[in-house]
Amino acid sequence: MYYIPKVNDSTYYLGVNDRTKHLFENLWPLPAGVAYNSYLIKDEKNVLIDTVDICYADRFLNNLERILGDEPLHYLIVDHMEPDHSGSIRVLKHKYPDIQFVVNKKSADMLKGYFDITDNVVIVDESTKLNIGSRELQFIFAPMVHWPEVMFTYDAKEKVLFSADAFGSFGTLDGGIFDEEVDRTAFYNEVYRYYSNIVGKYGSFTQKAIAKCAGLEIGTICATHGPVWRKYAGEIIALYDKLSKDEWEVGATIIYGSMYGHTEEVAEVIGRSLAHHGVKNVVLCNASTMHPSYVLSNVFRYKAVVLGCPTYNNGLYPVVETAMNMIESRGVKGKLFACFGSYTWNGAAVKNLKPFAETMKWETLEENSVEIQMEMKDADIAAAWDLGKRLAEQLLKD
Ligand code: FEO
Repeated sequence: MYYIPKVNDSTYYLGVNDRTKHLFENLWPLPAGVAYNSYLIKDEKNVLIDTVDICYADRFLNNLERILGDEPLHYLIVDHMEPDHSGSIRVLKHKYPDIQFVVNKKSADMLKGYFDITDNVVIVDESTKLNIGSRELQFIFAPMVHWPEVMFTYDAKEKVLFSADAFGSFGTLDGGIFDEEVDRTAFYNEVYRYYSNIVGKYGSFTQKAIAKCAGLEIGTICATHGPVWRKYAGEIIALYDKLSKDEWEVGATIIYGSMYGHTEEVAEVIGRSLAHHGVKNVVLCNASTMHPSYVLSNVFRYKAVVLGCPTYNNGLYPVVETAMNMIESRGVKGKLFACFGSYTWNGAAVKNLKPFAETMKWETLEENSVEIQMEMKDADIAAAWDLGKRLAEQLLKD
């Protein structure tokens, strides 16, 4: 079918776009939507790699049928069992009852748990070569990127790596399917947000998976979200590699909460000082209005994390505490930390922010905080400016 994109002579792109859901995993905003990618290899055996979210099963199966016609579908390779990719398995089996499910041991358990499927199951490991006619497919296990059963499928004949969620991104594919057909800059912003929120906790596992693929000749990366990478495959591998080994860009994420603007004024002074002293990437994140997924995306991107909030109920301002919990839960490493806070009658913000550097085992400045009482005075401005200057010096020194 001419309008269904072909990745190469034998492989079709069978993804769908979701422009309806507001929240991915019912948590993460989707202002640019998301694509669920599936692929079909036509050989002596017809092989589908992953399915799509159940909401789009009808569209997906119709396109599959447009390609296959009356031909059988021999195999479904399940690289990832999370329901945004496995959701259509039950209806797929209903349409192709003789299909065989190619899974590893962990995904076999999930196939049973989610769909009660135990028949026609082919268990593979990393030594398996699945002969489908003119080629053999092989499997690279990528546990905890970002679920335990995740594996990649490699087609050596066409040099294609089917990489599950790895190298994925939020954002729909609006006509352009391949990297050279889309605005990569826009996608890279969503790669940061996708990586930091979905995969980022498992950086060391992502590193292991990338290392395992180092010996493969990879011309095309077919991930389960985002564009098909071929002209710029090296770029997306390099970006995931950088993020997963905690290589941060020179820059600062200033995360603050502010009830009446006094704490925000301190954030502005620190931000201005950082820029004045040579730091180009400074992002002020108002934790009350910026969704945490964007905050986290900036935290993953830039080296310095500066936290600030007013004293609230003799403790931390709740939205900043939430951001701290999200950062801690992802085990973010290797940051440079500073903090600031405010109070009216009893200071508790800075006292509660300061230990975060130790909790996270982050580097910090010797004098790493500014605290104001009520309105910012000249001495407070000088202290905030000085904090920004010293942060900039440390960042630029590294
Ligand atoms: Fe896109 Fe982990 O599912």
